[in-house]
Amino acid sequence: MDNSYAAWPPMRGLGRYYECRLTVVGPVDPVTGYMVNIKLIDAATRSRILPVFSRFAQQADAPLGQMMRQALDAVRDRLPHPVTRISLQLAPTYAITLQEHDMSACLISQTYDFSAAHRLHCDALSDDENRATFGKCNNPSGHGHNYRLEVTVAAPIDAAGHITPVETLDAIVNAHIIEAYDHKHLNIDTPAFAEMNSSVENIVRVFYETLTDPLESAGLKLDAVRVWETEKTVACYRA
Ligand code: NI
Repeated sequence: MDNSYAAWPPMRGLGRYYECRLTVVGPVDPVTGYMVNIKLIDAATRSRILPVFSRFAQQADAPLGQMMRQALDAVRDRLPHPVTRISLQLAPTYAITLQEHDMSACLISQTYDFSAAHRLHCDALSDDENRATFGKCNNPSGHGHNYRLEVTVAAPIDAAGHITPVETLDAIVNAHIIEAYDHKHLNIDTPAFAEMNSSVENIVRVFYETLTDPLESAGLKLDAVRVWETEKTVACYRA
């Protein structure tokens, strides 16, 4: 292909768009400075993985866990170094990942958004210290953010190759996070931040702790939570 940035194969009529990411781990060659030639990754993805996804895409309720296993098996020994992880971005907000060290479960990642107001302020600090530490974020009337939340869970692959549908994750996040925090003032409307400063570091930990048990009850193991306060400020929490 002349332009490798163009989608391949090109879409014809009404089609589907997926992104596939491979993680390859190995030492860097001292002569070439390459770990692995990207052309080999591209070729393996197109010749080995694409046919797997194409085949499963024909099925109405494709067993995604089985598909990811077949996709990883199709390339794992086809490159000079081991492929440790394969991710498929199924939609801009939704991805599934299989890791070579645990073929019994897929990671499901889904992104959500919510808007909230807050004020960064610590009672333990003086007013001057609060202003010096938090600047405009200490404004007494608060300020707002459009937060982005990403939740990643491990979903077991069942005997038929299926994983828990992402709707199960969505329902739990909606019930426990979005309903509780969207369009709220964190300091005033949410008990978790009545005393504790609503920094993004504290928010991500509270969300992790809030989601752990409900997800566990649905057979999903919480892997990581990420919260973006702005495009450039993100905090990640994992146990
Ligand atoms: Ni803020």
